[in-house]
Amino acid sequence: MDRQEINKKILQELVKLPDNNHCADCGAPEPEWASCKLGVFVCLQCSGVHRNLSGRIKSIILDFWEDDLVKFMKSNGNAIAKVEYEKAVPVYYYRPQKDDCAVLREQWIRAKYERMEFAGVLKYPPLGYTTGFYEGMLLKKGKVNGQYLKRKFILSQAEFTLTYHNKEDESKKPKACIHIKDLNVTFQPDKIGHANGLQISYLVDTHTRNLYVYHESGEEIVTWFNAIRAARFAYLKTAYPTGSDKELVPRITRNYLKEGYMEKTGPTQLEQFKKRWFILDAQERKLLYFKGQLDATEQKAVFIGTESRGFSVKESLPKGARGNKWKYGIVMETKERQFAFLCERKEEQKEWVEALKLVMAKPMQPQDYTTEANLKG
Ligand SMILES: *[C@@H]1O[C@H](CO)[C@@H](O)[C@H](O)[C@H]1NC(C)=O
Ligand SMILES: *[C@@H]1O[C@H](CO)[C@@H](O)[C@H](O)[C@H]1NC(C)=O
Ligand SMILES: [Zn+2]
Repeated sequence: MDRQEINKKILQELVKLPDNNHCADCGAPEPEWASCKLGVFVCLQCSGVHRNLSGRIKSIILDFWEDDLVKFMKSNGNAIAKVEYEKAVPVYYYRPQKDDCAVLREQWIRAKYERMEFAGVLKYPPLGYTTGFYEGMLLKKGKVNGQYLKRKFILSQAEFTLTYHNKEDESKKPKACIHIKDLNVTFQPDKIGHANGLQISYLVDTHTRNLYVYHESGEEIVTWFNAIRAARFAYLKTAYPTGSDKELVPRITRNYLKEGYMEKTGPTQLEQFKKRWFILDAQERKLLYFKGQLDATEQKAVFIGTESRGFSVKESLPKGARGNKWKYGIVMETKERQFAFLCERKEEQKEWVEALKLVMAKPMQPQDYTTEANLKG
Protein backbone atom coordinates (compact mmCIF):
# COMPACT_ATOMS: atom_id res chain seq x y z
CA MET A 1 0.00 0.00 0.00
CA ASP A 2 1.25 3.51 -0.76
CA ARG A 3 1.11 6.38 1.75
CA GLN A 4 -2.10 7.75 0.25
CA GLU A 5 -3.92 4.46 0.62
CA ILE A 6 -2.68 4.10 4.19
CA ASN A 7 -3.83 7.63 5.02
CA LYS A 8 -7.27 6.98 3.54
CA LYS A 9 -7.51 3.83 5.59
CA ILE A 10 -6.59 5.66 8.81
CA LEU A 11 -9.26 8.26 8.04
CA GLN A 12 -11.86 5.55 7.37
CA GLU A 13 -11.07 4.06 10.77
CA LEU A 14 -11.10 7.47 12.50
CA VAL A 15 -14.53 8.39 11.17
CA LYS A 16 -15.94 5.13 12.53
CA LEU A 17 -15.13 6.12 16.12
CA PRO A 18 -18.28 6.80 18.19
CA ASP A 19 -17.80 10.59 18.38
CA ASN A 20 -16.68 11.00 14.79
CA ASN A 21 -19.39 8.93 13.13
CA HIS A 22 -21.87 11.78 13.48
CA CYS A 23 -21.44 15.29 12.11
CA ALA A 24 -19.81 17.48 14.80
CA ASP A 25 -22.39 20.21 14.20
CA CYS A 26 -25.77 18.73 13.25
CA GLY A 27 -25.41 15.07 14.21
CA ALA A 28 -26.06 13.69 10.72
CA PRO A 29 -24.72 10.12 10.47
CA GLU A 30 -21.56 9.08 8.58
CA PRO A 31 -19.87 12.39 7.84
CA GLU A 32 -17.62 12.37 4.78
CA TRP A 33 -15.97 15.76 5.18
CA ALA A 34 -13.44 17.24 7.55
CA SER A 35 -12.38 20.70 8.63
CA CYS A 36 -8.59 20.54 8.66
CA LYS A 37 -8.44 23.75 10.65
CA LEU A 38 -10.63 22.58 13.54
CA GLY A 39 -10.02 18.84 13.27
CA VAL A 40 -13.71 17.89 13.10
CA PHE A 41 -15.68 15.51 10.88
CA VAL A 42 -18.81 17.06 9.39
CA CYS A 43 -21.61 16.32 6.90
CA LEU A 44 -21.74 17.81 3.41
CA GLN A 45 -24.14 20.59 4.39
CA CYS A 46 -22.15 21.70 7.42
CA SER A 47 -18.94 21.47 5.38
CA GLY A 48 -20.34 24.27 3.19
CA VAL A 49 -20.51 26.60 6.17
CA HIS A 50 -17.01 25.59 7.32
CA ARG A 51 -15.69 26.26 3.82
CA ASN A 52 -16.96 29.82 4.18
CA LEU A 53 -15.39 30.11 7.65
CA SER A 54 -11.89 28.77 7.13
CA GLY A 55 -11.75 27.30 3.64
CA ARG A 56 -9.82 24.27 4.85
CA ILE A 57 -12.27 21.54 4.02
CA LYS A 58 -11.42 18.13 2.61
CA SER A 59 -13.41 15.12 1.53
CA ILE A 60 -12.18 12.04 3.37
CA ILE A 61 -13.00 10.00 0.28
CA LEU A 62 -12.05 12.12 -2.71
CA ASP A 63 -9.25 14.43 -1.63
CA PHE A 64 -5.50 13.99 -1.29
CA TRP A 65 -4.39 13.84 2.35
CA GLU A 66 -0.91 14.77 3.56
CA ASP A 67 0.55 12.73 6.44
CA ASP A 68 0.60 15.60 8.93
CA LEU A 69 -3.05 16.49 8.25
CA VAL A 70 -4.07 12.92 8.97
CA LYS A 71 -2.07 13.10 12.19
CA PHE A 72 -3.79 16.35 13.06
CA MET A 73 -7.24 14.79 12.54
CA LYS A 74 -6.20 11.82 14.64
CA SER A 75 -5.06 13.98 17.56
CA ASN A 76 -8.21 16.14 17.39
CA GLY A 77 -11.65 14.86 16.32
CA ASN A 78 -15.24 15.63 17.31
CA ALA A 79 -15.00 14.75 21.02
CA ILE A 80 -12.06 17.08 21.68
CA ALA A 81 -13.65 19.94 19.72
CA LYS A 82 -16.87 19.51 21.64
CA VAL A 83 -15.12 19.89 24.97
CA GLU A 84 -13.54 23.12 23.79
CA TYR A 85 -16.30 24.77 21.72
CA GLU A 86 -19.44 23.51 23.48
CA LYS A 87 -18.25 24.01 27.04
CA ALA A 88 -21.02 26.43 27.94
CA VAL A 89 -24.00 26.07 25.62
CA PRO A 90 -27.06 27.40 27.50
CA VAL A 91 -29.54 24.59 28.05
CA TYR A 92 -32.29 26.44 26.11
CA TYR A 93 -30.02 27.25 23.13
CA TYR A 94 -31.27 25.49 20.03
CA ARG A 95 -28.82 22.96 18.55
CA PRO A 96 -29.74 22.36 14.90
CA GLN A 97 -30.49 18.87 13.63
CA LYS A 98 -29.64 17.53 10.22
CA ASP A 99 -32.88 18.67 8.53
CA ASP A 100 -33.03 22.15 10.01
CA CYS A 101 -33.01 25.26 7.87
CA ALA A 102 -29.80 26.86 6.62
CA VAL A 103 -29.81 29.92 8.87
CA LEU A 104 -29.95 27.81 12.05
CA ARG A 105 -27.13 25.60 10.83
CA GLU A 106 -24.91 28.47 9.70
CA GLN A 107 -25.39 30.55 12.84
CA TRP A 108 -24.80 27.60 15.16
CA ILE A 109 -21.47 26.91 13.44
CA ARG A 110 -20.49 30.57 13.43
CA ALA A 111 -21.53 31.03 17.08
CA LYS A 112 -19.50 27.96 18.04
CA TYR A 113 -16.22 28.37 16.20
CA GLU A 114 -16.09 31.93 14.84
CA ARG A 115 -17.61 33.92 17.70
CA MET A 116 -16.75 31.26 20.31
CA GLU A 117 -19.91 32.02 22.24
CA PHE A 118 -19.87 28.72 24.13
CA ALA A 119 -16.15 28.29 24.84
CA GLY A 120 -16.47 29.72 28.33
CA VAL A 121 -14.20 32.68 27.57
CA LEU A 122 -15.46 35.95 28.94
CA LYS A 123 -14.18 38.21 26.23
CA TYR A 124 -17.68 39.23 25.15
CA PRO A 125 -20.31 41.40 26.79
CA PRO A 126 -23.42 39.38 27.74
CA LEU A 127 -24.92 37.96 24.58
CA GLY A 128 -28.35 39.04 23.39
CA TYR A 129 -30.08 35.83 24.29
CA THR A 130 -28.61 35.61 27.81
CA THR A 131 -29.78 38.92 29.25
CA GLY A 132 -33.52 38.34 29.71
CA PHE A 133 -34.30 41.47 27.71
CA TYR A 134 -34.04 42.01 23.99
CA GLU A 135 -35.36 44.64 21.64
CA GLY A 136 -34.98 45.57 18.03
CA MET A 137 -36.61 46.04 14.67
CA LEU A 138 -38.02 43.12 12.72
CA LEU A 139 -39.81 43.11 9.38
CA LYS A 140 -43.34 41.96 10.04
CA LYS A 141 -45.96 40.90 7.53
CA GLY A 142 -48.80 43.43 7.60
CA LYS A 143 -52.50 42.72 7.22
CA VAL A 144 -52.83 44.84 4.10
CA ASN A 145 -51.45 43.25 0.91
CA GLY A 146 -48.93 41.15 2.80
CA GLN A 147 -46.20 43.80 2.78
CA TYR A 148 -43.40 43.44 5.32
CA LEU A 149 -42.99 46.55 7.48
CA LYS A 150 -40.43 47.48 10.14
CA ARG A 151 -41.81 47.01 13.64
CA LYS A 152 -40.20 47.34 17.01
CA PHE A 153 -40.29 44.17 19.12
CA ILE A 154 -39.48 44.02 22.82
CA LEU A 155 -38.92 40.80 24.74
CA SER A 156 -39.00 40.97 28.51
CA GLN A 157 -38.22 37.92 30.56
CA ALA A 158 -39.08 39.78 33.76
CA GLU A 159 -42.62 40.43 32.51
CA PHE A 160 -42.79 37.23 30.44
CA THR A 161 -44.02 39.21 27.44
CA LEU A 162 -43.20 39.87 23.82
CA THR A 163 -44.67 43.15 22.58
CA TYR A 164 -44.52 44.97 19.30
CA HIS A 165 -45.13 48.54 18.35
CA ASN A 166 -46.30 50.01 15.09
CA LYS A 167 -44.36 53.19 15.63
CA GLU A 168 -40.90 53.55 17.06
CA ASP A 169 -42.52 55.75 19.69
CA GLU A 170 -42.87 53.44 22.68
CA SER A 171 -45.06 55.80 24.66
CA LYS A 172 -47.93 54.67 22.38
CA LYS A 173 -49.67 51.50 23.43
CA PRO A 174 -48.12 48.38 21.92
CA LYS A 175 -49.97 46.80 19.01
CA ALA A 176 -49.85 43.44 20.74
CA CYS A 177 -48.61 42.14 24.05
CA ILE A 178 -48.10 38.39 23.98
CA HIS A 179 -47.62 36.34 27.09
CA ILE A 180 -44.61 34.01 26.89
CA LYS A 181 -46.84 31.22 28.21
CA ASP A 182 -48.86 31.13 24.97
CA LEU A 183 -46.00 31.60 22.57
CA ASN A 184 -44.38 29.34 20.03
CA VAL A 185 -41.71 30.26 17.56
CA THR A 186 -40.41 28.31 14.57
CA PHE A 187 -38.38 29.00 11.44
CA GLN A 188 -40.47 28.89 8.26
CA PRO A 189 -38.21 30.05 5.40
CA ASP A 190 -40.25 28.42 2.62
CA LYS A 191 -43.60 29.62 3.86
CA ILE A 192 -42.37 33.19 4.37
CA GLY A 193 -40.19 33.24 1.27
CA HIS A 194 -37.10 34.51 3.11
CA ALA A 195 -34.14 32.46 4.39
CA ASN A 196 -34.47 34.15 7.80
CA GLY A 197 -38.26 33.86 8.07
CA LEU A 198 -39.60 33.20 11.56
CA GLN A 199 -43.16 32.34 12.55
CA ILE A 200 -44.42 33.42 15.94
CA SER A 201 -47.67 31.75 17.06
CA TYR A 202 -49.71 32.57 20.12
CA LEU A 203 -53.12 32.04 21.56
CA VAL A 204 -55.87 34.65 21.76
CA ASP A 205 -58.72 33.04 23.68
CA THR A 206 -58.67 29.62 22.04
CA HIS A 207 -57.58 30.85 18.60
CA THR A 208 -54.07 30.59 17.22
CA ARG A 209 -52.65 33.78 15.76
CA ASN A 210 -49.54 33.84 13.61
CA LEU A 211 -47.01 36.61 13.08
CA TYR A 212 -44.48 36.35 10.28
CA VAL A 213 -41.21 38.20 10.67
CA TYR A 214 -37.68 38.22 9.36
CA HIS A 215 -34.42 40.15 9.70
CA GLU A 216 -31.83 40.56 6.97
CA SER A 217 -29.12 39.39 9.37
CA GLY A 218 -29.03 35.67 10.12
CA GLU A 219 -27.19 36.32 13.39
CA GLU A 220 -29.90 38.73 14.52
CA ILE A 221 -32.86 36.45 13.74
CA VAL A 222 -31.21 33.47 15.46
CA THR A 223 -30.49 35.68 18.48
CA TRP A 224 -34.21 36.54 18.59
CA PHE A 225 -35.09 32.88 18.32
CA ASN A 226 -32.84 31.93 21.22
CA ALA A 227 -33.81 34.97 23.30
CA ILE A 228 -37.46 33.87 23.00
CA ARG A 229 -36.41 30.32 23.86
CA ALA A 230 -34.57 31.63 26.94
CA ALA A 231 -37.70 33.47 28.08
CA ARG A 232 -39.88 30.40 27.39
CA PHE A 233 -37.47 28.26 29.39
CA ALA A 234 -37.50 30.71 32.31
CA TYR A 235 -41.30 30.72 32.21
CA LEU A 236 -41.49 26.90 32.18
CA LYS A 237 -39.13 26.83 35.16
CA THR A 238 -41.55 28.96 37.18
CA ALA A 239 -44.66 27.12 35.93
CA TYR A 240 -43.19 23.66 36.59
CA PRO A 241 -40.61 24.17 39.35
CA THR A 242 -40.01 20.45 39.77
CA GLY A 243 -39.56 19.79 36.03
CA SER A 244 -36.07 18.69 35.04
CA ASP A 245 -34.23 20.37 32.16
CA LYS A 246 -34.70 17.19 30.18
CA GLU A 247 -38.47 17.42 30.59
CA LEU A 248 -38.74 21.16 30.00
CA VAL A 249 -36.38 21.72 27.06
CA PRO A 250 -38.56 19.86 24.48
CA ARG A 251 -41.49 22.07 25.51
CA ILE A 252 -39.73 25.37 24.78
CA THR A 253 -40.61 25.45 21.10
CA ARG A 254 -41.98 22.84 18.79
CA ASN A 255 -42.55 22.21 15.14
CA TYR A 256 -45.77 20.96 13.68
CA LEU A 257 -45.93 17.30 12.74
CA LYS A 258 -47.31 18.12 9.30
CA GLU A 259 -48.49 21.15 7.34
CA GLY A 260 -49.93 21.53 3.87
CA TYR A 261 -52.90 22.09 1.60
CA MET A 262 -55.83 19.69 1.42
CA GLU A 263 -59.34 20.14 0.11
CA LYS A 264 -62.20 19.76 2.57
CA THR A 265 -65.95 19.59 2.39
CA GLY A 266 -68.53 20.59 5.02
CA PRO A 267 -70.39 18.51 7.61
CA THR A 268 -73.04 17.12 5.20
CA GLN A 269 -70.30 16.26 2.67
CA LEU A 270 -72.54 17.71 -0.08
CA GLU A 271 -70.75 21.05 0.14
CA GLN A 272 -68.18 21.90 -2.50
CA PHE A 273 -64.62 20.92 -1.66
CA LYS A 274 -62.46 23.92 -0.82
CA LYS A 275 -58.70 24.19 -0.58
CA ARG A 276 -57.48 24.94 2.95
CA TRP A 277 -54.12 25.10 4.71
CA PHE A 278 -53.88 22.41 7.41
CA ILE A 279 -51.55 22.19 10.39
CA LEU A 280 -51.25 19.13 12.62
CA ASP A 281 -50.05 20.03 16.09
CA ALA A 282 -49.13 16.67 17.63
CA GLN A 283 -48.29 18.08 21.02
CA GLU A 284 -51.65 19.78 21.43
CA ARG A 285 -53.55 17.03 19.53
CA LYS A 286 -55.09 19.59 17.19
CA LEU A 287 -55.72 19.66 13.46
CA LEU A 288 -56.09 23.32 12.49
CA TYR A 289 -57.20 24.68 9.17
CA PHE A 290 -56.78 28.10 7.69
CA LYS A 291 -58.26 29.76 4.62
CA GLY A 292 -54.80 30.82 3.45
CA GLN A 293 -51.34 29.59 4.29
CA LEU A 294 -50.25 32.81 6.01
CA ASP A 295 -53.54 33.61 7.73
CA ALA A 296 -53.22 34.86 11.26
CA THR A 297 -56.14 32.84 12.67
CA GLU A 298 -57.50 29.40 11.91
CA GLN A 299 -61.06 28.77 10.70
CA LYS A 300 -61.36 25.78 12.96
CA ALA A 301 -59.42 23.51 15.27
CA VAL A 302 -60.34 19.82 15.47
CA PHE A 303 -59.34 17.75 18.46
CA ILE A 304 -57.60 14.47 17.61
CA GLY A 305 -58.27 11.78 20.23
CA THR A 306 -57.27 8.13 20.32
CA GLU A 307 -58.49 5.09 18.43
CA SER A 308 -59.94 3.62 21.62
CA ARG A 309 -62.08 6.76 21.92
CA GLY A 310 -63.55 6.29 18.47
CA PHE A 311 -61.12 8.30 16.31
CA SER A 312 -59.86 6.77 13.08
CA VAL A 313 -58.37 7.76 9.74
CA LYS A 314 -57.94 5.92 6.45
CA GLU A 315 -57.16 6.42 2.77
CA SER A 316 -60.54 6.47 1.14
CA LEU A 317 -62.39 8.53 -1.45
CA PRO A 318 -65.53 10.10 0.02
CA LYS A 319 -68.68 9.22 -1.95
CA GLY A 320 -70.27 11.86 -4.15
CA ALA A 321 -67.34 14.30 -3.88
CA ARG A 322 -68.25 17.59 -5.59
CA GLY A 323 -66.17 20.50 -6.75
CA ASN A 324 -62.90 18.79 -6.02
CA LYS A 325 -59.75 19.25 -8.05
CA TRP A 326 -57.77 16.64 -6.17
CA LYS A 327 -58.22 12.88 -6.08
CA TYR A 328 -56.42 11.30 -3.14
CA GLY A 329 -58.99 10.99 -0.40
CA ILE A 330 -58.81 10.70 3.37
CA VAL A 331 -61.74 9.92 5.66
CA MET A 332 -61.31 10.77 9.31
CA GLU A 333 -63.80 9.93 12.08
CA THR A 334 -63.92 12.06 15.19
CA LYS A 335 -66.42 11.79 18.03
CA GLU A 336 -68.65 14.43 16.44
CA ARG A 337 -68.49 13.81 12.73
CA GLN A 338 -66.79 12.39 9.70
CA PHE A 339 -64.27 14.54 7.84
CA ALA A 340 -63.43 14.08 4.19
CA PHE A 341 -60.18 15.51 2.78
CA LEU A 342 -58.52 15.33 -0.62
CA CYS A 343 -54.82 15.58 -1.35
CA GLU A 344 -53.14 16.62 -4.57
CA ARG A 345 -50.56 13.82 -4.55
CA LYS A 346 -50.56 10.24 -3.38
CA GLU A 347 -47.51 10.76 -1.12
CA GLU A 348 -49.30 13.57 0.70
CA GLN A 349 -52.33 11.35 1.28
CA LYS A 350 -50.04 8.73 2.80
CA GLU A 351 -48.12 11.26 4.93
CA TRP A 352 -51.29 12.82 6.34
CA VAL A 353 -52.78 9.44 7.22
CA GLU A 354 -49.53 8.38 8.88
CA ALA A 355 -49.20 11.63 10.82
CA LEU A 356 -52.81 11.52 12.04
CA LYS A 357 -52.44 7.85 12.99
CA LEU A 358 -49.34 8.72 15.00
CA VAL A 359 -51.31 11.24 17.06
CA MET A 360 -54.22 8.81 17.48
CA ALA A 361 -51.83 6.13 18.75
CA LYS A 362 -50.50 8.42 21.52
CA PRO A 363 -52.22 7.91 24.89
CA MET A 364 -54.22 10.91 26.12
CA GLN A 365 -52.62 13.03 28.86
CA PRO A 366 -54.67 14.80 31.55
CA GLN A 367 -54.33 18.20 29.80
CA ASP A 368 -55.64 16.66 26.54
CA TYR A 369 -59.09 16.20 28.09
CA THR A 370 -59.16 19.95 28.76
CA THR A 371 -58.16 20.71 25.16
CA GLU A 372 -60.90 18.37 23.96
CA ALA A 373 -63.54 20.02 26.15
CA ASN A 374 -62.47 23.51 25.00
CA LEU A 375 -62.69 22.64 21.32
CA LYS A 376 -66.21 21.17 21.47
CA GLY A 377 -69.00 23.08 19.79
C1 LIG B 1 -21.08 30.76 1.76
O1 LIG B 1 -20.97 32.13 1.43
C2 LIG B 1 -21.63 32.49 0.24
C3 LIG B 1 -21.27 33.94 -0.07
O2 LIG B 1 -21.50 34.77 1.03
C4 LIG B 1 -23.13 32.28 0.40
O3 LIG B 1 -23.83 32.61 -0.77
C5 LIG B 1 -23.38 30.81 0.73
O4 LIG B 1 -24.75 30.61 0.98
C6 LIG B 1 -22.57 30.40 1.94
N1 LIG B 1 -22.73 28.97 2.13
C7 LIG B 1 -23.11 28.44 3.29
C8 LIG B 1 -23.31 26.97 3.28
O5 LIG B 1 -23.31 29.09 4.29
C1 LIG C 1 -47.06 26.42 22.17
O1 LIG C 1 -46.50 25.34 22.85
C2 LIG C 1 -46.82 25.26 24.21
C3 LIG C 1 -46.02 24.18 24.84
O2 LIG C 1 -45.98 23.06 24.05
C4 LIG C 1 -48.31 25.07 24.36
O3 LIG C 1 -48.68 24.99 25.71
C5 LIG C 1 -49.01 26.24 23.70
O4 LIG C 1 -50.40 26.07 23.76
C6 LIG C 1 -48.57 26.38 22.28
N1 LIG C 1 -49.15 27.58 21.76
C7 LIG C 1 -49.71 27.65 20.56
C8 LIG C 1 -50.19 28.97 20.15
O5 LIG C 1 -49.80 26.71 19.80
ZN1 LIG D 1 -23.86 18.50 9.73
